Amino acid sequence: MIEIEHCQDDVKALLDRPIVLVGMMGVGKTTVGRLLATRLGWSFYDSDDEIVRSVGKSISEIFSEDGEPAFRDLERATIKHLLANGPCVISSGGGGITVSETAQAIKERSLCIWMDAGLPILLKRTEGSDRPLLMHGNPEEVLKNLLEKRRSHYAQAHIHALDDGLTPEEMVNRILLQIREHLYVSSSESEKEKFVPEAICLTVSLFDRSYPIFIGCGLLKQPDLWLAHDLQGRDAFVLTDYNVRERLTDSFVETLSPLMKSVSIMELAPGEQTKSFERFQAVLEWMIENGVKRDSVVFAVGGGVIGDLAGFASSSILRGIDFVQIPTTLLSQVDSSVGGKTGINSKSAKNMIGAFYQPRTVVIDLDSLASLPRREWLSGYAEIVKYGLIGDEDFFEWLESHGALMLGGRISEAIRAIESGCRMKAEIVCKDEREENGLRALLNFGHTFAHALESAAGYDGTLLHGEAVSIGMVLAARLSQRLGYLVQDDVNRIYNHLKSLGLKTEISDVAFKEDITADQLLLIMRKDKKASVSGLKFVVLKRIGQAVLESGVSENMVKELLEGSMK
Ligand SMILES: NC(=O)c1ccc[n+]([C@@H]2O[C@H](COP(=O)([O-])OP(=O)(O)OC[C@H]3O[C@@H](n4cnc5c(N)ncnc54)[C@H](O)[C@@H]3O)[C@@H](O)[C@H]2O)c1
Repeated sequence: MIEIEHCQDDVKALLDRPIVLVGMMGVGKTTVGRLLATRLGWSFYDSDDEIVRSVGKSISEIFSEDGEPAFRDLERATIKHLLANGPCVISSGGGGITVSETAQAIKERSLCIWMDAGLPILLKRTEGSDRPLLMHGNPEEVLKNLLEKRRSHYAQAHIHALDDGLTPEEMVNRILLQIREHLYVSSSESEKEKFVPEAICLTVSLFDRSYPIFIGCGLLKQPDLWLAHDLQGRDAFVLTDYNVRERLTDSFVETLSPLMKSVSIMELAPGEQTKSFERFQAVLEWMIENGVKRDSVVFAVGGGVIGDLAGFASSSILRGIDFVQIPTTLLSQVDSSVGGKTGINSKSAKNMIGAFYQPRTVVIDLDSLASLPRREWLSGYAEIVKYGLIGDEDFFEWLESHGALMLGGRISEAIRAIESGCRMKAEIVCKDEREENGLRALLNFGHTFAHALESAAGYDGTLLHGEAVSIGMVLAARLSQRLGYLVQDDVNRIYNHLKSLGLKTEISDVAFKEDITADQLLLIMRKDKKASVSGLKFVVLKRIGQAVLESGVSENMVKELLEGSMK
C-alpha cells in the first residue's frame, strides 16, 4: 500500500527551499497551499494577503487607484521578500510569474508548482468573485484569454500539477507525490540508489488534454488515490482480456465499484487478433446495450491490445468519452498507454485505423507485473532500451548495469526504468502530439524493421512486438553505422546488451513458419505507413542518445543488412 505520509516525510526531509504555487485564479492555490503547509508543518503565505497587509488597501483598490503595473511591482517585492523565508509554502497571485524578474526569482529560489485546471473548473470556482480582472467582460472569455497568455509562463514551473476535478486534500496528495518524484529525478546517482519513491506522479502536459501518469505498487487497490473526483460516481465500462481478468481485473473492480455508479465488464480474447473491426464493433454494441452515456468512463485493464482497442472505442462512442489506461504488461506501461495513439488493425496492415485520443489518467501498478511471463517482460524491456538509445545515453548506461536486476523483478529498478521511459515518452508527446514535426517519429527507432518482421511472422505470437523491436534496433544500429554515424563499438554495445539479457537480436532468432526473404521484408517496408514518396525512412542514431530521421535510404543497403541478419 502507498502511504502518502511517507511521501510527506520525504518531502519535509529533502526539500530545503520554499514551495511557490502559481496558476490561474480559482485553481485553489490558497486553499491547497494552506493545507499543504499544514501537512508539512511549514508556514503559509499568500502574496496577495501580504500585499494587502503592507499597503493597507484591497487588491481591487490597488488596481483601480494605482493600476496593474504598480500592483505587479508590489507583488515582485513581496514575493522576493517571502522567498527569503526558507522552507514554507507561498501562494503567488495568478499573474505574478508573468513578470520576468519575479519569474526568475521564483525559479531560482523555490520549487515552483504550476497548479493547472481546465476552464470549466476555473469558471465554477470563480463564480461570483470580486477579482479585479473578472469585473469586466464575459468571465469565460477573460479566463480563456488570460490562460492563453499565461500558459507559457506557468509552463516554466518545475512541476505541472493537474487538478482534474480533485478535492483540495486529493490535490495536496498529488502535489506531494510530484514533489517527491521531482526531488528523486534531480538527485545524484548515489542518492537515487538510496531513495526510490514508492509511488510517482508525472503529468503529460497537453493543454486541456493534460493528464497524470501514476506509477507505483498497490495502485489498483487504492483507486481513491488516483481516480479524479469528477470521474467518480459515473458508469464504468471495464475492458479486459481473459488472461488479465482473473489475475487482476476482478479484484480491481471490487475496489472500484464503491466509487462508481455502476460497473460493467467485457472480457475479450487475448492477442493481436482482438484489435479487429469485429471486436471493435462488438465493444461499441456492448457499450450501447449497457446504456453508455456521455459521462461514462472506460477503463482499459490489460496490455497494449486492450489499451489500443479500448482507447479507440472511447474516442468514437458518442463522439468521445473519458477513458483510463490501466496497462498491465511492461510494454504497455512504458509505451502504448502514454501518448494517445489508439487503434485497430486492418486485414492487411497493423494499426492502420485509429485516432489520437488521450486518456484522462494512466495508472501503472507494478504489482500487476508479478504474473507477467518472462517473454513479455523482455518484450517490454526492448522499448525501455529504445528510450536510452534515442534520447539519453546515461539512461542506456544505467540499463547496462541495472537491466538484469530490473528483469529479475527488483522493484526499485523497475520503478526507475518505467518512470524514465514514461517521462521521455511524455516529453516527446508534449512537443509533437500528432507526429507532425518529426520528434515523435523518433520513437519509431527500430520499428520499420520490426513492423516488417511482425507482419511476416503473422501476429500469432511467433514474434512479440518488443522482440521485433529488439531485432529492429540492432538492424537500425547497423544501418546507422553504415551511413557513417554510429561507431562500431556502440553497435556492439547495443547488440551485447540486448543479447546478454536474452532478447532476440537477429532475424535468424525468429522461428518463422515459412521461409522469408529480404525482398519480402522490403516489400512490406515500402507499404509501411511511415514510408514516404522519397523512399524508405528510418530512424537512425548519430550516437547513443541521439536519434534522427533519415529519408531516402538505399534499398540495397537495407537488403544487405536483412540478409546478413538471416544467416
Ligand atoms: N498505442 C501505442 O502507442 C502503442 C505502442 C506500442 C505498442 N502498441 C500496441 O500494443 C500491442 C502490444 O501490447 P502488449 O505487448 O502489451 O501485448 P498484449 O496486450 O497482447 O499482452 C500480451 C499478453 O500478456 C497478457 N497479459 C497482460 N497483462 C498480463 C499480466 N499482468 N499478467 C499475465 N499476463 C498478462 C495478455 O493477455 C497477452 O496474452 C500491439 O498491438 C502494439 O501494436 C501500441
